[in-house]
Amino acid sequence: MSALLRPEVSYRRMRSADLVAVAELEKSLYAFPWSLGNFRDSVEAGYDCWVACHGEHVVAYAILMVALDEAHLLNIAVAAPWQNRGMGRAFLDFMLGVARQAKCQIVYLEVRPSNLAARHLYRQAGFQQIAIRPSYYPAHGGREDALFLGITL
Ligand SMILES: CC(C)(COP(=O)(O)OP(=O)(O)OC[C@H]1O[C@@H](n2cnc3c(N)ncnc32)[C@H](O)[C@@H]1OP(=O)(O)O)[C@@H](O)C(=O)NCCC(=O)NCCS
Repeated sequence: MSALLRPEVSYRRMRSADLVAVAELEKSLYAFPWSLGNFRDSVEAGYDCWVACHGEHVVAYAILMVALDEAHLLNIAVAAPWQNRGMGRAFLDFMLGVARQAKCQIVYLEVRPSNLAARHLYRQAGFQQIAIRPSYYPAHGGREDALFLGITL
């Protein structure tokens, strides 16, 4: 599957050759980033790992783990200069389409309560809170809960 997000940005599956660029982006976006090995493991495990590219450059990435009729969005991120231009929403919708094509009926994810941009994005897309996972994330000076969200497809 491939798709055009907008004239200059296209989606494709993540390749081994993307791992360095993806891990660099990840480091620039998260205080507690995934390692390159985490991304490599995801690709090798056969998860749905996708990138959005502008020319040769990876500007966003997402990882979806499908298990039977459920999926878990493990990561989605947009490079800082590309944020607030609708790319996160378009890419999220695309990944929900990937889940639909895999015959999933529900998609889950976790988000930090402090991540207002992501929470807004997910709410706008129709995700609803299911539960709180206490002390789920590492955080400076302690741990942070996760909001556990889901959307029925
Ligand atoms: C979360 C993220 C993917 C959103 O991507 P984006 O391309 O900026 O999102 P969009 O431009 O599509 O915006 C989607 C909605 O979120 C809102 N939004 C974006 N940034 C926001 C912010 N900092 N605070 C509040 N709302 C914000 C937009 O206004 C838009 O809402 P609207 O449709 O009501 O106008 C991006 O901020 C990101 O990559 N963050 C770092 C990685 C991350 O935290 N990923 C999520 C982990 S759970």
